Amino acid sequence: MRTVALGTALISAAFSMNGNALAQEPIVIKFSHVVASDAPKGEAAQRFKELAEKATNGRVRIELYANSVLYKDKEELEALQLGAVQMLAPSLAKFGPLGMKEFEVFDLPYIFSNLQAVHRVTQGPIGEKLFNKLESKGILGLAYWDNGFKVMSANKPLRVPADFNMLKMRIQSSKVLDVQMRALGANPQTLAFSDVVQALKTGVVDGTENPPSNLYTQKMYEVQKNITVSNHGYLGYAVIVNKKFWESLPWDVRAALRQAMAEATKYGNVRAQAENAAALVAMQKTGKTAIHYLNAKENREWRSALLPVQTQMEGRIGKDLINAVKKESASTDVN
Ligand code: LMR
Repeated sequence: MRTVALGTALISAAFSMNGNALAQEPIVIKFSHVVASDAPKGEAAQRFKELAEKATNGRVRIELYANSVLYKDKEELEALQLGAVQMLAPSLAKFGPLGMKEFEVFDLPYIFSNLQAVHRVTQGPIGEKLFNKLESKGILGLAYWDNGFKVMSANKPLRVPADFNMLKMRIQSSKVLDVQMRALGANPQTLAFSDVVQALKTGVVDGTENPPSNLYTQKMYEVQKNITVSNHGYLGYAVIVNKKFWESLPWDVRAALRQAMAEATKYGNVRAQAENAAALVAMQKTGKTAIHYLNAKENREWRSALLPVQTQMEGRIGKDLINAVKKESASTDVN
């Protein structure tokens, strides 16, 4: 505790020594993301902005660009590498196209028994090793943020795998999710998040998967008559920065931003759990969509259809990494 206090005192001393800091132009960090400002990631980003600007006495200004207004999926990673934007928080399912196939371990169906299992991976050596891999792409990982466990939606009830037959299901740009949907007999369609609602509305796709908070904040319940609370997979984020930009920052600014990020991460993860629970209730209340829960037999059928994906993807993700994640997950299994 004393070290933290000393660290905080040192950082604020550094900022107060730069009394003329306010006279200088603030360091601008453009933080772009693809979800609504009131989605979990949007709220965590807002909290990071508040904490970071306060902790640096205004030496840093975080400019938030929500809902794909600045960059949509795929474009945003290119923009970060070019330095056109300094910070992102893409889904962990979107790093495959960068050549970071290992990140798709987070997409494997049923790989995590609960959020505590996720955090043992993201906050432990496995998460750190994955972030180290990003550095070769000029990217530095700052934190992992939760959204939560995913549900499935369509305009027909999805109770057993056979219900997915021939459905066009939107997925993120992840080979694991492509194989997952095919294992259910569906036809996966990769689309940018910003294009999903329109694609559902016009029938370009029949259904999708996401945590409830994303379905709710994008109003997908208005174009999806059925939601199945399957919790078949996890969706989380890597908060990343352009490495060259980050290393150009003064040491005291980096220290203050890391502290702000740690607090925003705690806040965001709590908000995500609350928002996902509230989103299901809110969508049910609209009367526009029916929320289905799987019984034990249906759950067994989903698991037997989807668990083989874990083995099928060993060649792409790495058997050792998959086993390491499974080991971490099992060791926290509260059931
Ligand atoms: C999706 O594309 O479905 C999600 O990754 C969007 C997000 O950032 O939560």
